[in-house]
Amino acid sequence: MRPDSARIIRLADYTAPAWLIETVHIDATLDDTRTRVIATLHLKPNPNMASGPLVLDGDELVLESLALDDVTIPTSAYTIDRRTLTLNNTPNRPFKLTVITLLDPAANTQLMGLYRSSGNYCTQCEAEGFRRITFFLDRPDVMAVFTTRIVAKKDEAPVLLGNGNRVEAGDLPDGWHYAIWHDPHPKPAYLFALVGGRLGKVGGSFTTRSGRKVELGIYVESGKENRAGYALDALIRSMRWDEEAFGCEYDLDVFNIVAVSDFNMGAMENKGLNIFNDKYVLASPETATDADYANIEAIIAHEYFHNWTGNRITCRDWFQLCLKEGLTVFRDQEFSADQRSRAVKRIADVRNLRSQQFTEDSGPLAHPVRPYEYHEINNFYTPTVYEKGAELIRMLKILLGAELFRQGMDLYLTRCDGTAATIEEFIQCFVDASGRDLTHFAKWYGQAGTPHVAITEIFDPASGQYRIGFTQMTPATPGQPAKEAMVIPIALAFFAKDGQELKLKPSLGQIDNDVFVLESEKSELVFEALKEKPILSALRGFSAPIVLQIDTTDEERLVMLAHDTDPFNRWQAAQGYAMKLLKAGAIAKREGREPYFDSRFADALAHALRGQDHALIAQVLALPSENDIAREIGADVDPDAVRESRLGLRKAIGEQIGHELHALWLSLTSTESYRPDSKSAGSRALRNVALDLLAVGMPEIGLGLAEQQYRSADNMTDRFAALAILAQHSGPAREEALTHFAHAFETDPLVLDKWFSLQASIPEAETLDRVKRLMGHPGFSMKNPNRLRSLVGAFAASNPSQFNRADGAGYDLVSDIIINTDRANPQVAARILGAFKTWRTLEPKRRALAEAALRKIADQDPLSPDVSDIVTRTLA
Ligand code: PHE
Ligand code: ZN
Repeated sequence: MRPDSARIIRLADYTAPAWLIETVHIDATLDDTRTRVIATLHLKPNPNMASGPLVLDGDELVLESLALDDVTIPTSAYTIDRRTLTLNNTPNRPFKLTVITLLDPAANTQLMGLYRSSGNYCTQCEAEGFRRITFFLDRPDVMAVFTTRIVAKKDEAPVLLGNGNRVEAGDLPDGWHYAIWHDPHPKPAYLFALVGGRLGKVGGSFTTRSGRKVELGIYVESGKENRAGYALDALIRSMRWDEEAFGCEYDLDVFNIVAVSDFNMGAMENKGLNIFNDKYVLASPETATDADYANIEAIIAHEYFHNWTGNRITCRDWFQLCLKEGLTVFRDQEFSADQRSRAVKRIADVRNLRSQQFTEDSGPLAHPVRPYEYHEINNFYTPTVYEKGAELIRMLKILLGAELFRQGMDLYLTRCDGTAATIEEFIQCFVDASGRDLTHFAKWYGQAGTPHVAITEIFDPASGQYRIGFTQMTPATPGQPAKEAMVIPIALAFFAKDGQELKLKPSLGQIDNDVFVLESEKSELVFEALKEKPILSALRGFSAPIVLQIDTTDEERLVMLAHDTDPFNRWQAAQGYAMKLLKAGAIAKREGREPYFDSRFADALAHALRGQDHALIAQVLALPSENDIAREIGADVDPDAVRESRLGLRKAIGEQIGHELHALWLSLTSTESYRPDSKSAGSRALRNVALDLLAVGMPEIGLGLAEQQYRSADNMTDRFAALAILAQHSGPAREEALTHFAHAFETDPLVLDKWFSLQASIPEAETLDRVKRLMGHPGFSMKNPNRLRSLVGAFAASNPSQFNRADGAGYDLVSDIIINTDRANPQVAARILGAFKTWRTLEPKRRALAEAALRKIADQDPLSPDVSDIVTRTLA
């Protein structure tokens, strides 16, 4: 085992820092290969801790000099190893440390620390990137006031941005200039940022509710300014919403966002200077889809909301990551729900949770929302920390009610303001605000795995007694063989066969505000004197992140699909029905039988088409994905059988209700010009799923319409949806459209990404060669994370039948790319490797091939800590 991969960081080992840093002055002179950084730190001993040596973090730094109170420290007085600089004889009093380092931003392919993207200088410091800029106490509980002076050649970097407010700027001799930025709010180093470059600006302003006028700027590559308008609009709406929904007001005079094209993640909440993957900023009707617009809105809001939940209140240590991420995801989900359709947003979020987080939670990478240990923190920016973390906040709100939840939040935002907090401190605010005991609830943070709740219904026609039994069980996860019972809020309603809602009061057990709280392994609700068994609508709105096992009959599902007053459970009724058919179909295909098709399901869908909420109907028509079906099957999965089952059901639906789908497609033809609002997006979504089913069921009609739509579309949503439909059907029309699209958008990397992903996701044997061929496309680059994810990431994560090819060629391709990428950008390599996490659920032949590919990766030397950590856990 390599020394790096043996290093384990444990929550239980947390100790406060021996030293604190009060102020930091960063002076950076930007140069492509020799950027000089002078860092002046004012340190003091932590009064609460015993004195100790000063051990600073550093990563790949070239140290030029070190001075204590302006006196150069001789090299004999400190030691430097691969990750630290230790000062041996530190005075036990406050002192000034001046550190001069030399950086090579052009060689920084990891995209952590200071690097170049499209000729611009930018930084990324979360989680441990600041130590790649200077030696520092790079941990979130060390909070300092930062001042940043940036010096650059004026023609190379006319725009110079830092955290906080700009306090000074001016020219220097020989064509250089500088700017000084000061951030009055103490912050950890991971929130530091600077940017220098030739950037275009789209400006705006926002006046906070107490009257502070904030200047807003969105900076993009020059020439792309006309694509930043929606992001600015979303920012202004976010600022207003956070005041109204959480009382959070912005606290600086400036708020800037910079879009860069090389970025490992989605975006970063640096104080007053958010840096974004340009994919989540740039949009125009011709280049972005409705989904892109929705993502931009959500991520702009997410990063902005971090200003309070993350920045004003930060995390004590990285184990508390969900403190800022889960809470902020919850907040951005609520924002989108308020801006758009709440039900459709909830459905989209639950689809995402099940497909990403449930898969993680049931595989080798499962971990608690707040982990107890890690090797590499970069690998813990996961669906569990983010999305399950958000579900925990939502449950807390359900358990306490909206009012007490808000009081707890208010208390948190005042009590913990300016601190680096923990989950315990967060929960204590809700305990104090509500007077409730949340000890049991808090266990959700420490226990990994998705609880399974089995519901059994017994109705006795003779006595009219109706009993609902609840049993919970959480499967074992790595390191946690035995599980405790969780507190699980289960929202319930009852319906008669005619769809009438019934208000039932249990004679045993308790339902409060339509929620039953399951607190132990087993529990029961009993109702007396009913005439017939009611239809139980359970887990409404997905009130807890669990797997619900309940034997709902098809008849009951049809009633709920038509009448449930909870739109989420109307959708769930259709999904549950479809899943039953898809699972049975995949098992039949595997055993060489023809699947049974239930025509009542398609009839019900045809009926649903007549509803008013287009976005919701679109969700009802969208079947579970191949990955969803595989997860439900759970073991010995044959991805080809899964693919055939899903295709078969789509075909059967399209054949049976094709004429209705055709009529719907025609009726939804819009004559208005494109607007990205959620209502018109919903109509497009419905029209496009209808066309997809039609094209599978009645290709002679549907494919012609898809070609027509591809040609005549005035927006990317409709154009790309048509292209995606054509791409599912091999033949000249597909190749022609794909070629046309590539020519039309050859200079637009973000649009080419869609084209790469689409082709990587075609579920055909030829796709492997197509992906290899596309890696040679002039628009592709192994160095750019978006390109790599859109082609290779999409192939591995969204094309299960081809990634998991029976001959292992999918694994070979992806593992070779992971090995190559690891040398340049370990974080991105580790992400793509995540696609292997379901390998143990495959049938034995594929399982063996996947294991061999994983072992080959594990045997590489050197291997980054990122990839080494994931591959070790995946194989364990
Ligand atoms: N903190 C960022 C976000 O959620 C994510 C991120 C993590 C970005 C690490 C870059 C690096 O909002
Ligand atoms: Zn975040």
